[in-house]
Amino acid sequence: MEKIIEEDKQGTAVVLEHNATNTRKLYIESYGCQMNFSDSEIVASILAKEGFNTTNNMEEADLVLVNTCSIRDKAEQTVRKRLEKYNRVKERKNPNMKVGVLGCMAERLKSKFLEEEKIVDMVVGPDAYKDLPNLVAEIDEGRDAVNVLLSKEETYGDIAPVRLNSNGVTAFVSITRGCDNMCTFCVVPFTRGRERSRDPHSILEEVNDLWNKGFKEITLLGQNVDSFLWYGGGLKKDFKKASKMAKATAVDFAQLLHKVANAHPDLRIRFSTSNPQDISDDVLHAIAAHRNICNYIHLPVQSGSNRILKEMNRLHTREEYMNLIDRVHAIIPECAVSQDMITGFPTETEEDHQDTLSLMEYVKYDYGFMFSYSERPGTMAARKLEDDVPEEVKSRRLSEIIAVQRRTGHERAQYFVGKTVECLIEKESKKSDRHWAGRNTQNYVAIFDKEDYKVGEYVMVEITDCTSATLKGKAIGYSDMKGPLTYDTV
Ligand code: SAH
Ligand code: F3S
Repeated sequence: MEKIIEEDKQGTAVVLEHNATNTRKLYIESYGCQMNFSDSEIVASILAKEGFNTTNNMEEADLVLVNTCSIRDKAEQTVRKRLEKYNRVKERKNPNMKVGVLGCMAERLKSKFLEEEKIVDMVVGPDAYKDLPNLVAEIDEGRDAVNVLLSKEETYGDIAPVRLNSNGVTAFVSITRGCDNMCTFCVVPFTRGRERSRDPHSILEEVNDLWNKGFKEITLLGQNVDSFLWYGGGLKKDFKKASKMAKATAVDFAQLLHKVANAHPDLRIRFSTSNPQDISDDVLHAIAAHRNICNYIHLPVQSGSNRILKEMNRLHTREEYMNLIDRVHAIIPECAVSQDMITGFPTETEEDHQDTLSLMEYVKYDYGFMFSYSERPGTMAARKLEDDVPEEVKSRRLSEIIAVQRRTGHERAQYFVGKTVECLIEKESKKSDRHWAGRNTQNYVAIFDKEDYKVGEYVMVEITDCTSATLKGKAIGYSDMKGPLTYDTV
């Protein structure tokens, strides 16, 4: 097991409300991070204006798009296998279908894709989706089409994304694109380009629109949300050169949180991903100040060893990270924290690995996403360091950190047993049509009898039992939305 959650969502084909005048059919699949799923909503929105309705049946699609991930070799292999599948469908059932590759793998491989995979007609990088109408016109004429230009400005702030596969309750809102951090193992700065922030007005407009449509929870998305900085547009790195006025009226992530939280006090707010070197105490205070900002921070650390952190170009030490965790708990009572961890980074010794385990024991993470190091072409680590930890050592270390995560996750979940927590009902439980699944502020899924409650309602749930990531209980009434979110209010 490489990744603990969200595995079931990978690859979902998406469907949206149909526009009666549209005649062509689009089948779109997404892999990888939440940002890719969010980008696919932008792509579907752009193509809806070009006459495409989505379908979940590849065999009837005029255009098949796959939004791809490059983060690990395995993610790329998954996409290669999907291309084989598309090829079979094209040969046997749908000879006229065209295939386009979007996202990080498109950006990484560029026109090489056209040489390597004969099924591919179109290659589009993450900053080039507005060019899709032209690119589709090209492939309609029988020519291959490629646009992998990265942009300094593009944030798609002016595109209203259609909501794909939506439960009508939770939605993603992207706030930054790209990443400037240059962690040595990571391909993202190469595939998604320089970091830029989206205009807060357009963020708030999108949030208002979601609220008016009945959504109850939004997740603000970025590769590194803490680094959000709006000063009238442009790259984060150019802020130094901005005018005095632009500097004085700039909006950072903590201020953005205050704005969004104040706009709709009954709309829950989550955000992802935080970065330990960029999250400020102002952000922690903003979370504590608003009851509708969820008490949950995804705070990847990657390693517990100072030497490895340095090799990874993570710009903090183990001690600074532990200190940050202490401040999180001091400022936000009952805050849940999750991690991303990489085992077997080049030169990682047994001692480094023990440092990771002891850091995990210190933090007692609620959840985690743990990976074996996968060398990515072009990254600093690939250029400078030999991938020298044997596969079996990587996977043994991975199972050791997964075991610690399971245990601390279970301990943390047990904390809620006997307590009453506020949950937002999202959907039916996967395992039973008699139960709802909702999440509490700490992002734990709670399962309880449906009774007369409905999707989108906030309810108080008495927790009676738990597994390592799921709470079980009984709803005992509606939440008043005025009391604290997780204490024994009833
Ligand atoms: N800031 C990003 C991180 C993107 S990558 C975000 O929004 O989530 C997600 C996680 O994948 C990273 O935190 C890291 O743990 C893992 N990862 C990235 N590159 C990797 C590599 N080369 N090998 C293994 N895992 C990797
Ligand atoms: Fe990657 Fe590090 Fe940015 S993990 S996305 S380079 S913060």
